[in-house]
Amino acid sequence: LLQPIGEERRVLLANPRGFCAGVERAISVVEAALDRFGPPVFVRRAIVHNREVVERLERRGAIFVAEIGEVPEGAIAILSAHGSARSVKVAGQARNLRLVDAICPLVAKVHAEVENWYRAGRHILLIGHQGHPEIVGTIGQVPAGAISVVASPADLEVLDLAANSAVAYAVQTTFATHDAEEMIAAIKARFADCVGPRTSDICYATTNRQRAVEAMAAQCDVVIVAGDVTSSNAQRLVEVARAAGCPEAFLVAVAAEVPFERIAKATTIGLTAAASTPDWIVEAISTSLRSRGYSLVEVPGVQETTRFKPVSLETIDRASFPT
Ligand code: F3S
Repeated sequence: LLQPIGEERRVLLANPRGFCAGVERAISVVEAALDRFGPPVFVRRAIVHNREVVERLERRGAIFVAEIGEVPEGAIAILSAHGSARSVKVAGQARNLRLVDAICPLVAKVHAEVENWYRAGRHILLIGHQGHPEIVGTIGQVPAGAISVVASPADLEVLDLAANSAVAYAVQTTFATHDAEEMIAAIKARFADCVGPRTSDICYATTNRQRAVEAMAAQCDVVIVAGDVTSSNAQRLVEVARAAGCPEAFLVAVAAEVPFERIAKATTIGLTAAASTPDWIVEAISTSLRSRGYSLVEVPGVQETTRFKPVSLETIDRASFPT
């Protein structure tokens, strides 16, 4: 397609984008276990929500299973970055598995909060998306019924809980920041005796990626979010871009999925990537856009310095053979 003379076609690359510290740490522990112990290394559920990452690890000898009961007795089993219910660990120990928990430390922080509030006798309102693995894992830290999951003010309205109940709220780490603020305000308006985390449960990576896409969306004809359909933070980036003024925002898992016909008239394309999306996917998308005449512009953004200590593989033995 011919472009109007003088109108530069450009791709604005959001910053920050792509891998967060929790995802890097979780992938590294699978790689380290493969290096140290050799295949197979079993992983319960997608280690992070990205098919390409999972397939790459599978080619190296990782075997992904849905349930811990599928792992052969005594084998190494790694639990995903999203966090796992206590029952999963108990089941793993019963099978004498050599368990390694790749839970992101920022999800582990939410688990600890929820447990404390439960012990303090509070009912917990967990702002999150029902059924997402992180939510399933968080619910599984406390006895059934101790947590109600709420995603919208409508969920809150139908909640059968007296206004004078002692409650606490927690938030899924990848929830939309503005939606969470709205929910927290609604919870506080309904329950006078309400406590919450000292610092936001929504993690730095979610916050920064949402802010970056929000800042660029209004200037873009199209926003492409590189990420898996299963990734909560990828889905939120699409929603944030739309809400911030770019209705033509969508998700692509790999470069081959970019709908070039649909975006042919776009002069400015925003490109970002979920916290679970590897760089090579963004590079492949950028390359194909460049070959169609777009220039690439890195948009300045927050520099992320968060790094987590690697998961120690020594814990394999400690976890499976408690002294
Ligand atoms: Fe952790 Fe946030 Fe990444 S909770 S896994 S740092 S998206």
